[in-house]
Amino acid sequence: MDFRVTARRAQPDTADAPLLVLALASGATLTPALSALDAALGGTLGRALERKDFRGARDETLVLPGGAKGAQRVLLVGLGKPATMVGALRRAASVASRQARKIGAPSLAFFAEDQSEGTIEAVAVGLAMGSWEYTTTRSAPPEDERKPALESAQILVSDEASANAAVQRGSAIGGGINLARQLAMLPGNICTPEYLANTAREIASRRGMNVTVLGRTEMKAEKMGSFLAVAQGTPQDPKLIALEYKKGPPGSKPVVLIGKGLCFDSGGISIKPAQGMEHMKFDMCGAAGVLGAMDTIGALGLAINVVGLVGSTTNMPSGEAMNPGDVVQSHLGKFIEIVNTDAEGRLVLADVLSYARRFDPAAVIDAATLTGACVVALGHSASGVFGNDQALIDEVLAAGRSSGDTGWQLPLFDDYKELILTDAADIKNTGGRAAGAISAAMFLKEFAETFPWVHLDIAGTAYSETDLGFIPKGPTGVPVSLFVDFVRGRAH
Ligand code: BES
Ligand code: MN
Ligand code: ZN
Repeated sequence: MDFRVTARRAQPDTADAPLLVLALASGATLTPALSALDAALGGTLGRALERKDFRGARDETLVLPGGAKGAQRVLLVGLGKPATMVGALRRAASVASRQARKIGAPSLAFFAEDQSEGTIEAVAVGLAMGSWEYTTTRSAPPEDERKPALESAQILVSDEASANAAVQRGSAIGGGINLARQLAMLPGNICTPEYLANTAREIASRRGMNVTVLGRTEMKAEKMGSFLAVAQGTPQDPKLIALEYKKGPPGSKPVVLIGKGLCFDSGGISIKPAQGMEHMKFDMCGAAGVLGAMDTIGALGLAINVVGLVGSTTNMPSGEAMNPGDVVQSHLGKFIEIVNTDAEGRLVLADVLSYARRFDPAAVIDAATLTGACVVALGHSASGVFGNDQALIDEVLAAGRSSGDTGWQLPLFDDYKELILTDAADIKNTGGRAAGAISAAMFLKEFAETFPWVHLDIAGTAYSETDLGFIPKGPTGVPVSLFVDFVRGRAH
């Protein structure tokens, strides 16, 4: 399904649309633009506000009937008391296009008083997000129950030329977010490491990037003993995927983005309980985030060098699988005792981080659904942020704030190193129950000693087990927009 967003120079009272959306903050009153619309509607808008049928609370919606021409329906969407207009409008726009799909409106017109380039871009992102629906493995409803698809949206603006550039940027970001969500939502028997590799190949040819894919044979030659230990229990070929985007000054050091791509994580021999195990198809959300961000970066044509790396496999129990107590030698050379085979993400990332050295990175950011402990610490509202360079950490936190993919820093004090020490090897892959998100990050830090590095634990933010209103149950697209804002901030 194709969804197109454009900017159009029009006022709400002159827009001709099956659904006119008005984004209103709490306690909003009639501005001149809204008064003209109210007159055209015979006063229903003003009365709805006066009677407090609609108060403008965050995510609140109210549909008002419109005329035969002009605005045929009016959807009010609340912004609440926005902390940032960018975040509030992205959210409201997503609510709006989800609602438009429910109503069965084929197109919508979106109006907000705030029309800076940043907010118009945010509206385009939100509209694209709300238009997304997972349909791949679902039968279409019977003909008579089918609703018209939402095909297009217009953002009503006063300056069309500058707005259109912002709309294009927003659409590119929304496209990357929706690609990530689609990959994440696909079940593990369809979205395999091979499938992710093929998706990377498509992105590479669409956007003019180099792509390299290492399989089990190539990883053996590279001596990636840590990654291969995880892949040992599965017959599927593991994939280390490298996408290289080179639009920066020749020879300038690249930003390297790394994603954990566990297409299914059963826990392996340290098997997980059955309850909720199906969610472990989402254990590739870091990889999906890297692929979505790379697609967007290519679409935006940013002047910068970026490498996207994905470490993909599944974690399975079998007669060939790694066992607790096994010791493996990583790509970097360090010996690792595998104490719990369910702490597999860090084993994969250890070798991908080590592989990243060959790109001589300016900065490395990895994203991984790494620990349940991070969900305990921060819940679903912020990703855990860790790193070995405070300036880079601050830059990532700022990209999180500007993009809406909020992060919160947790410490990597030297004291925590004790948690992962063992007599059997240089380090072990788990540190016990206390500070579980931190000990996982301390483990990764061992493999990121030669470059500025940040780790994002997205276990609580990459997918939602409940409908959030602006996002349905399922993958959220985190951390695509954080990655894109970070890279944009570094582009020349
Ligand atoms: N993929 C999981 C982490 C996870 C948990 C993601 C819940 C999303 C929701 C990871 O591979 C894992 O199993 N981590 C273990 C580590 C433990 C064995 C030290 C965990 O968090 O329990
Ligand atoms: Mn696991
Ligand atoms: Zn995992």
